[in-house]
Amino acid sequence: MKKQEKLTTSAGQAWANNNHSQTAGERGPVLIQDYQLLEKLAHFDRERIPERVVHAKGAGARGVFTLHQDMSKYTKANLFTGHNKQTPIFIRFSQVAGEAGYPDTIRDVRGFALRFYTQAGNYDIVGNNTPVFFINDPLKFPDFIHSQKRDPQTHLRSNEMQWDFWSHSPESVHQVTYLMGDRGNPASYQNMNGYGSHTFKWVNEQGEQYWVKYHFISQQGVKNMTDQTAAQIAAKDPDYLLHELYDAIAKGHFPSWKVCVQIVPYEAGFNYKYDIFDVTKVISHHDYPLIEIGEFTLNENPKNYFDEVEEIAFSPANMVPGIEPSLDKLLQGRLFSYKDAARYRLGVNFDQLPINQPLNPVHNYERDGFMAQNQDNTVNYEPNSFQGPKEDNSAQIQGDSVQGKTGNYLPYDQDYYSAAGRLYRVMKPEEQERLIATIKNMLGSVTKPEIKILETRQFYQADHEYGQRVAQALGLKMEEIIKH
Ligand code: HEM
Repeated sequence: MKKQEKLTTSAGQAWANNNHSQTAGERGPVLIQDYQLLEKLAHFDRERIPERVVHAKGAGARGVFTLHQDMSKYTKANLFTGHNKQTPIFIRFSQVAGEAGYPDTIRDVRGFALRFYTQAGNYDIVGNNTPVFFINDPLKFPDFIHSQKRDPQTHLRSNEMQWDFWSHSPESVHQVTYLMGDRGNPASYQNMNGYGSHTFKWVNEQGEQYWVKYHFISQQGVKNMTDQTAAQIAAKDPDYLLHELYDAIAKGHFPSWKVCVQIVPYEAGFNYKYDIFDVTKVISHHDYPLIEIGEFTLNENPKNYFDEVEEIAFSPANMVPGIEPSLDKLLQGRLFSYKDAARYRLGVNFDQLPINQPLNPVHNYERDGFMAQNQDNTVNYEPNSFQGPKEDNSAQIQGDSVQGKTGNYLPYDQDYYSAAGRLYRVMKPEEQERLIATIKNMLGSVTKPEIKILETRQFYQADHEYGQRVAQALGLKMEEIIKH
């Protein structure tokens, strides 16, 4: 049996009474000298930190990534080279729009954030359970999220706001089709695939460059739940997805995912039929088939939710030598936003929290700030003549040639619709029916006719049959949809 420890204060002093405050006499007021009481209340008053501005509710777990295929032909990234190499990982699955206490089974995109603790530093792939996204310019992200969160007056989430934004943002129709389809409500976190979504760059030892997309394929199979089941579960067990994952791992049923990539040669990427730097579009599996390179398994629950799941600070900017960002505008915006959010949410030294520390030692010239700890006392400026840490050429970027005038450009590839049409057409007839029913239910509850018309016009442009079926379900006249 575990030895019972003695109670101490946070400063390690023995603590005699944790149930009865010190008072002036049996019936008297509480004394200010009761330092333990004051400390306990003061600490409690500060227990909450800001929740993530998006993806506030989530579940995390530890695991291991095993590389089955040496990828040194394409990248020098340490975790993808060698044979049967194992890399510890941490994963966080999440809801996007709801707050930390929101029911798990409300239709939403799900976050799929993966950290690899590599020998060359932390590598994060901060993806979703869908291969595409609603927008392709970071300038639109705060507006998009405002439309998905609560109304400033009623403090209610509003279908009206969501569809208003989408109906005026035609680039969203591909992702909206995913979200209204079966995958908008996964049966569990174990039963969904994950995607890096953006195109990233891989660089090998010779400096050759490739474009890469990540796919994480659930070995439990993709399973979803109907809106009806989701509503029943939300009423009974708002934390369903969280506890389903925790229970499975606690029972030793370790879920796993195949790790696959699509690799596109550098020049071919620029000339591909769809813009590969636009996250609202995909790369056809037919043109660039999935290559299976390994798998990861989740085998350990967090020991402390706050220390691990809440304090982990993922960032798409966490890359390692051999991996670089692409020209994707949305990705470029994300490279800034996550660490900035972490500085606000966790403080400037968030990287020093145990869950964020890399396996390899950190040496640089950043110093001090709130909660700084374990800093070395060597030279803190560069250049210097005291053997301070020296630059590491292995992280030199390969770079891309760019040309043109600075300006605020429209998306390079303005075909907003055809990808959504292809997605609609690969759905089985029953899934198409559920898609139309979900859209009827959600878009149908919007009061402003203009929003319904604009959105249905998008579905129509994606695929005429798709648009016609939505129009019929919503009781809209086809003349209103087609004119314009
Ligand atoms: C410009 C576009 C975007 C911006 C500015 C943005 C910003 C953010 C911010 C500020 C957070 C909270 C971070 C924190 O407090 O630790 C977050 C979380 C997250 N975002 Fe984004 N995001 C964008 C697009 C995307 C896209 C395209 C994806 C997926 C492909 C994505 C996936 C996630 C995930 C999974 C999380 C939760 C990470 C975790 O589990 O801690 N985001 N995002």
